[in-house]
Amino acid sequence: MSENAGGQRWWQGAVLYQLYVRSWLDTDGDGYGDLAGIIARLDYLCWLGVDGIWLSPTMPSPDEDWGYDVSGYRGVHPDLGSLEDLGRLIAEAGARGLKVLLDLVPNHTSTAHPWFVDAAGSRDARHRGYYVWADPAPGGGPPNNWVDATGRPAWTWHGPTGQYYLHLFLDSQADLNWHEPAVHAEFEQIVRYWFDRGVAGFRIDVANGLYKDAKLRDNPPAAAPDRLGARFGQQMKYSANRPETHAVFRDWRQIAEGYRPPRLLLGETWVGDLGSLAGFYGHDDELQLAFNFPFVFARFTAQDLSRVVGATLARLPAGACPAWTASNHDVGRFPTRWCGGDERKVRLALLVLATLPGTTVLYYGDEIGMTDVAVPPALRRDKMSREGDGWEGSRDRARTPMQWDGSPSAGFTADGVTPWLPCGDAAARNVAGQRRDPRSVLRFCRALLDLRRAEFAGTVARYEMLPAPEGQWAYRVGGLTVVANFSGWPAALPCPAGEVLLSTAERPSPRAPLGAWEGVISRT
Ligand code: GLC
Repeated sequence: MSENAGGQRWWQGAVLYQLYVRSWLDTDGDGYGDLAGIIARLDYLCWLGVDGIWLSPTMPSPDEDWGYDVSGYRGVHPDLGSLEDLGRLIAEAGARGLKVLLDLVPNHTSTAHPWFVDAAGSRDARHRGYYVWADPAPGGGPPNNWVDATGRPAWTWHGPTGQYYLHLFLDSQADLNWHEPAVHAEFEQIVRYWFDRGVAGFRIDVANGLYKDAKLRDNPPAAAPDRLGARFGQQMKYSANRPETHAVFRDWRQIAEGYRPPRLLLGETWVGDLGSLAGFYGHDDELQLAFNFPFVFARFTAQDLSRVVGATLARLPAGACPAWTASNHDVGRFPTRWCGGDERKVRLALLVLATLPGTTVLYYGDEIGMTDVAVPPALRRDKMSREGDGWEGSRDRARTPMQWDGSPSAGFTADGVTPWLPCGDAAARNVAGQRRDPRSVLRFCRALLDLRRAEFAGTVARYEMLPAPEGQWAYRVGGLTVVANFSGWPAALPCPAGEVLLSTAERPSPRAPLGAWEGVISRT
């Protein structure tokens, strides 16, 4: 159990909840969710038992990438509400003991951001150096072989000033130049601006990508297909993952620690090797939490998941707090990816997520077992995954409206309003129905979070793997024993000794062996 003097490390043992604002609740009838919708459902989040929410981008943006193309870092997107609404949300959440994290996008801005507009004005514009500009390669054409998220060259020619600019995502998302000290100064002010307004921390977009190789060297070919370290056959050695990035997080960590309670930095650390992941914690002086994508992309087997968990804990520096998630707005929903919609597996995955040591991040809808939605091509809204082939189908599949009730609009918006993305099968799975049903996934999830809070709040529980036959995973975590049967037949593993606190399934008798895809938590 690591040190948590005075409850300052409030994220340890916590459950955070990623809320895709545009899909949460539409209160003004424009088909998009909004900040007022979050305020209206804070009591639901408290009832569920989460400790904090991370809001998908809330800042002004032309929405080429739904807010990940920021055109102003100090405001609120008018579709979502106003700065006053956000202040009200932070206050109302705070009154209920809920923390609010924002999404910060420091790798790139929209080309509509005033910095870029100025930079594109002339070669000696004040903000020219904020972005990565380069001359054509000696033989003509883009300066190097880097590709963007759609597989096209990561360089766009800017005729008026006769240079290329860099964009690792869409050409409307120009990469910032972190070799430029003024960019550091800008973001330090932005970070403080939000912390001063009561924001509890940031999820940091593309956290491993900020710095680019100063010499703009070509990326080497990828040794093997690797969805984390590689892109379109290239290893992202020089276009991302540069060592200088760590200094940025050391600076921000000092700022975060200057607040009471300390603010949280949670990185989108899109790296495949756990050594690099561990590096983002520094010597407890960089990010306090770093997303674990090897866990996200592990197969849903006892062997693979337990291996990633064990290896992660072995690599993380002493006292570091791991962060676990299984769904998000890019990678899709685990009830589909891991579980193929099988509710037994969904319960088992939730049980594991709720009992791993550290911080768990749920994605809106995980708690009712929401699955990906097949969004027909004509209704897709995500340009990046529509145009490219790097995202395994449209990312819209995991961004559809929250399913509040079984009505045609899923309770997300008023009848007669067309939601920005189509609703999934809300009649089959929705909050209202599951709230009434004591045997539902939602009620099970709530019981898990309740238990987690009682056992783990404020700590990183000690984890120890226990011997188990193939296909099964058993561990001791804090004062609990968890056994999980990742197979479609009854487990060879007996039910653990001690009082059974929770099970994914109804147990025929207290000591009965585990059934197919059953998981049990007991007190030891
Ligand atoms: C991150 C976001 C993703 C976005 C990209 C560019 O990966 O999670 O949604 O498209 O960064 O900002």
